[in-house]
Amino acid sequence: MTREEIIKALSPDTDPAPLFALADKVRRENVGDGVHLRGLIEFSNYCRRGCYYCGIRAGNAKVRRYRLSHDEILDCARTAVSLNYKTVVVQSGEDPLWDTRALAALVEKIKAGTGLAITLSVGERTKEDYKALRAAGADRFLLRFETSDRRLFGMLKPDSDYDNRFRCLDWLKEAGFQVGSGVMAGLPGQSLESMADDILLFKKLDLDMVGIGPFIANPDTPLAGADSGTLEAALRMVALTRIVTKTTHIPATTAMGSIDPQGRQRALRCGANVLMPNISPAGHRADYSLYPGKICVNDKPEQCAGCVDAMLETLGRRRAEGYGHSLKAVI
Ligand code: 5AD
Ligand code: FES
Repeated sequence: MTREEIIKALSPDTDPAPLFALADKVRRENVGDGVHLRGLIEFSNYCRRGCYYCGIRAGNAKVRRYRLSHDEILDCARTAVSLNYKTVVVQSGEDPLWDTRALAALVEKIKAGTGLAITLSVGERTKEDYKALRAAGADRFLLRFETSDRRLFGMLKPDSDYDNRFRCLDWLKEAGFQVGSGVMAGLPGQSLESMADDILLFKKLDLDMVGIGPFIANPDTPLAGADSGTLEAALRMVALTRIVTKTTHIPATTAMGSIDPQGRQRALRCGANVLMPNISPAGHRADYSLYPGKICVNDKPEQCAGCVDAMLETLGRRRAEGYGHSLKAVI
């Protein structure tokens, strides 16, 4: 699709029904009906950064900070095995105490103890750090670039560097990771043009995974008074990303489920093929509050597993077989 066609399809004036139907078809033809379940472990909500949109930003004194221990994280990974998930996503803020040596040791333990595929989502690090984490056995890495609009990026992430973010994505690829990135839809000041550029960039970066969710204004951040994004806008982006990138893994994100009770189901019907049920311990889930209204904060891992299986049943879909590695990489 051309940039102009993408901009048109993103416009609220365009009927999204044909777009969603096409994306569903492209999804079926390229990645099939199977849905990959990735168990999400939010292992630390400490963060050194001050991103304006994010609830666990360093400047938010209201957050009750926590770090899970190695053993607690390993327990989560074992829970993932018992629920027959094949991947754990190990995510945190940019927590300085979880240095690369500690993380690498954790990765080795999870691999040795469970054999699960491991996705890390721990932010910006050095090239050497990424190499070490890959060598320790991590398979995949998620690092959203959040927006392709350099000016907007600078405004929303005042202590981050746009060019470094993309350098990190290059380093991750060089280190041999399957790489995921993504954006928020409906950020304050985000134009349709920049959202079209986001989608074209997903393609250009040749990503293995692309995560998209609506921006949800958090009252405890500098963007407290801003308008949130809409589910519709995020779904249009998911659909277009499927059509443009064809074989990437695209999750129906927690933010979509949080802004609308049918959000994830709708995403699965217009391009998405991944779900990331939470397997963090119940006691800390509410403290990993990037945005308000986050779903599943009072649920146990077993409840989320039952919930997503029921969701798939209703949609006439099924759990995918295997680890759900990149459809591009030769593993
Ligand atoms: N609304 C929606 N998504 C958010 N994220 C962070 N804060 C918010 C928010 N207020 C997303 C970012 C980040 C991911 C882990 O969560 O895109 O990369
Ligand atoms: Fe957690 Fe539905 S996925 S309760």
